Amino acid sequence: MATQGHFQNLIGGTWRDAKGGATFERRNPASGELVATYTSSTAGDVQDAVAAAKRAYASWRLYPAPKRGEILFRAAQILADRKEEFAREMTEEMGKVIAEARGDVQEAIDMAFYMAGEGRRMYGQTTPSELREKFNMSVRKPLGVCGVITPWNFPMAIPSWKILPAIIAGNTVVFKPATNTPRSAIRFVEVLIEAGLPDGVVNVVLGTGAEVGDAIVDHPDVPLITFTGSNATGTKVAVRGAQHNKRVSLELGGKNAVIVMDDADLDLAVDGIIWSAFGTSGQRCTAASRIVVHRAIQKELVERLAARADAMQLGDGLDESIDVGPVVSATQLDRIVEYVAIGTAEGAVLVTGGTRASTGSLGGGHFLRPAIFDEVAPTMRIAQEEIFGPVSAVIPVGSLDEAIDVVNGVQYGLSASIFTANVNSAFRAMQDIDTGILYVNAGTIGAEIHLPFGGTKGTGNGHREAGTAALDFVTEWQSLYIDFSGMLQRAQIDPVS
Ligand code: UN1
Repeated sequence: MATQGHFQNLIGGTWRDAKGGATFERRNPASGELVATYTSSTAGDVQDAVAAAKRAYASWRLYPAPKRGEILFRAAQILADRKEEFAREMTEEMGKVIAEARGDVQEAIDMAFYMAGEGRRMYGQTTPSELREKFNMSVRKPLGVCGVITPWNFPMAIPSWKILPAIIAGNTVVFKPATNTPRSAIRFVEVLIEAGLPDGVVNVVLGTGAEVGDAIVDHPDVPLITFTGSNATGTKVAVRGAQHNKRVSLELGGKNAVIVMDDADLDLAVDGIIWSAFGTSGQRCTAASRIVVHRAIQKELVERLAARADAMQLGDGLDESIDVGPVVSATQLDRIVEYVAIGTAEGAVLVTGGTRASTGSLGGGHFLRPAIFDEVAPTMRIAQEEIFGPVSAVIPVGSLDEAIDVVNGVQYGLSASIFTANVNSAFRAMQDIDTGILYVNAGTIGAEIHLPFGGTKGTGNGHREAGTAALDFVTEWQSLYIDFSGMLQRAQIDPVS
C-alpha cells in the first residue's frame, strides 16, 4: 500500500518508488502546508508499467465483462463509503471547496456504477446477411494498453471518466495523474485494488509530463492515449501519437458563454452565472468565462453580479462557509492576474475583483477576488482565450442572432447556456450554437456522467468521454460473419434463389 505521507508508483500490483529515487512535493494551495511527497518517475518506470499492463492484458481481455463490472460496482460502494475522507483530502491537495470536492468524488462514484452496468450491455449489432444460412454480427473489442493522462482540476472525476470505460471494455491502463493532485488519483486506484482489480490492470506512474507523459505517448505498446489538459500540450500529444498511428482522445480548453436574453428570469440567471463562473474558482473546462447579455438588461445584470461576487467569502475550502477556494498554484495565480491586466489594457471595464487576496488567514495561499469585466468586445483577448480562473467577461449584444454569433466566435466549443423564457429562442440556441454541451436556463457547468462530454472545434479532436460514447473510444469493432450453409457462398457475386 502507499503510505500516508509519501506516495509511490503502482506497477504490476506492487507499490514502489521510481528507479531514479527522485521525489516531488505538493503544498496545500490554501495554506502552503505540505500535503505529501511523491516519487518522481522517468521513462524507465514507464517501460516497466507498460510491460506490466501488457502482461495483464493477456488475461484481463478474456475476463468476462459482467465480472469486470462487479469489481467496478464494489469500487463504487467503497468510494461512497469513504466519500467524506476523500473529499477532505482533495480539498487539501487541490483547493476546491469541500462541497465541490464531494461532488468530484460523487462523479467518480456515478461513473463506477454506470460503467459497472455497461459490463452487462456493451451492445454490438446483429444484422441480416445478403446470403442464405449466414449470420452477421459485430462486437466491441479492447485495444490493449491505454495511456491515461489527467489534469488537476477534477482529481478523481476525470481519472474515473478515462480509466473505468477503458477497463470495463477489457483494456489495461498506465495512468499518469497531474503532479498537483497525485494523492486523490492514488486513492482512486487504491479503491480499485481493494475492490478486487487484478494486478497490472491499472498501473500508476507519478511524474512530469516531459518525463512520464511523453514516455507513455511515445511507447509503441500503448495504442490508446486519452489526455485532458491545455491545447498546446494536447496538440503535441496528438502529433507524437500520430507517429505510431495511435488513437488519441483530447479534451482541451473552453471559452464557455452564458447568454442572458431580455426575457430571462434574472434571479435564476445571476445564480447560474455566479455558480458557473466562480465555482471551482473558475478552474473548470466548462467554466462560464463569457456572459453575453442583451443590452436592455446589461446594467441591472452587471450590478447584481458584482454585488454577489463582492460578497463571496474567500478561504480554505475545508470551512463549509467558504464560497471560493484558492487557485491551484502560484503560477496559475500569476497567469490569471496577467489576464486581468490584459483586459484592463484592452479597454474592458473591471467592475469588481481581479486582485490578489493575501490578508490575514489568506496569506499563505493563492487567492484571487472573483473578477467581472464589463463592456468587453468579442474580439478582446479576455473574450477569446481560456483564462482558467475566477474571471468572467460581460459582452453586450442587441439580439439573439448577435448573441449566437458571439458565442460561436471563438476557437473552442465545449459548453454554452442560454437564459430565456422564450421557447423559440431556446430552440434557436440549441440548433445554432456550436458546442458539445448546451444548457437551457442553467449555467455552463454540471455535466452528468451518462451523457457524452466533450466539445467541438479546438476543444478536442472529435471523441467524447462519458456516456456510452466513451466506449467508442476504448473499443475496436470486430465484424463477424458465420456461414452455416456448408458451401462456398460468394458475397456480391452469387445470386440468391
Ligand atoms: C472539467 O472541467 O474538465 O460539467 C470537467 C462539469 C463537471 C466536469 C467538468 N461535471 O462542470
